[in-house]
Amino acid sequence: MESEIAGWLSVVFRFVHVLAAIMWIGNSILFTWMELNLIAPQPGDNDSNLGHLDMLHGGGVFHLEKRVINPMAIPVPLHWFMWQSYTTWISGVLLLVSVFYLHGGSSLLNPASMNLQGWKAIGLSVGGIVGWWLVYDAIWRTKLKEQPKIAVPLTFSLLVVAAFFFNQYFNGRAVFLQIGAMLGSAMSANVFFHIIQNQKKFMKSLLAGLPHDMKYGKQAKLRSMHNHYTTFPVLFMMLSAHFPQLTSSGRTVPILGVIIVALMTVKYLMNSRYYFKYWLVAIFGTVMLAGGLIGTLIAAPTEQTSAAPDVMKGGKLFVSQGCAACHQAGASQLGPNLSKIYNSTQTLTDDSKIVADDMYLHESIRQPQVKVIKGFAPAMPPFGHLTDTEVDQLVAYLKSL
Ligand code: HEC
Repeated sequence: MESEIAGWLSVVFRFVHVLAAIMWIGNSILFTWMELNLIAPQPGDNDSNLGHLDMLHGGGVFHLEKRVINPMAIPVPLHWFMWQSYTTWISGVLLLVSVFYLHGGSSLLNPASMNLQGWKAIGLSVGGIVGWWLVYDAIWRTKLKEQPKIAVPLTFSLLVVAAFFFNQYFNGRAVFLQIGAMLGSAMSANVFFHIIQNQKKFMKSLLAGLPHDMKYGKQAKLRSMHNHYTTFPVLFMMLSAHFPQLTSSGRTVPILGVIIVALMTVKYLMNSRYYFKYWLVAIFGTVMLAGGLIGTLIAAPTEQTSAAPDVMKGGKLFVSQGCAACHQAGASQLGPNLSKIYNSTQTLTDDSKIVADDMYLHESIRQPQVKVIKGFAPAMPPFGHLTDTEVDQLVAYLKSL
């Protein structure tokens, strides 16, 4: 019952999370687009004019002017944008709790650290989210913020260090998600602690009758830009449950690094299209280069190669046949966790017990509906089309988990 409720809650949280994220990221992309397309004020324009823009939509033209606010004429209503971000964060936290933490945190772990207690895994995850914000925020509060050529690589290197750290304990899927949650939380914290605070400050000074001080807007904008460039990588990490080729490749950290750099570069090139003629070619080149690098990383031998060839082939089948999509620890986990399955005692829907020996594992793959594990729907498709050798390889792999 408990797992059923958690399951339904995760449906609600996930849908709200995706919806709110679309609204938030949509705003971020649209506002940046408008900013880049503003037509600079012409001589003779009002002093308060910072640029204008006309947009065709919904059967009319939106005429948009960006301007300095006159403290004597503060527009009403004045729309603020923050709840898309907060809703994304709150639903994301609820999702993290209902999918990972409520299960005791052990679904975050990799086979090598299965003996780490679940609450410690949760502690690491929460600590990482809070810690990352403190570190990132500290760097960008110092004078370094004037020197992005130092601050950006520094921030990125620290993120890679964090990814290496989590990779020691967490499985590939959880590392992707953890780094995504850290970056996503920092984005929301940027909205809460910097963007909205600075807007409040300058609104306060306007209400006190002081002229519009652009200093506040500049501070808010730096964090807005960080958020803007983080959107693509974070989206990718949040979708990574669907990319088991990447998350179970055994090369989690370098792949993650390549993806972050490549997607930020793509966003940058997209924004450069107003002055950089070859932006589309450059995007194509970036994607090809990143794809090539990731392909090489996946193909390169890892420690797993020292495993018996059957186990390796079984591991590949586990990904190519789609087993990983349902069985890998993580958000969309439909099937039971298979780590240490061999010779373990399993409870079936009729409460009978069975030992997961070779025969049982073979049967579970060929005719999964014959013995269904308690607490799970009979959702696994029968894999009758696999050859005997393939099933043997899969079983060899399952035994190695
Ligand atoms: C559509 C999702 C899905 C896919 C794909 C899938 N499984 Fe399953 N699997 C399940 C579910 C749900 C159960 C639990 C219900 C049951 O026992 O039939 C399960 C049960 C199992 C069990 C028994 C687990 C236990 O705790 O005793 C094994 C072993 C297994 N799957 C292996 C595999 C292998 C190997 C593949 C790929 C060839 C695979 N599964 C593909 C969903 C899936």
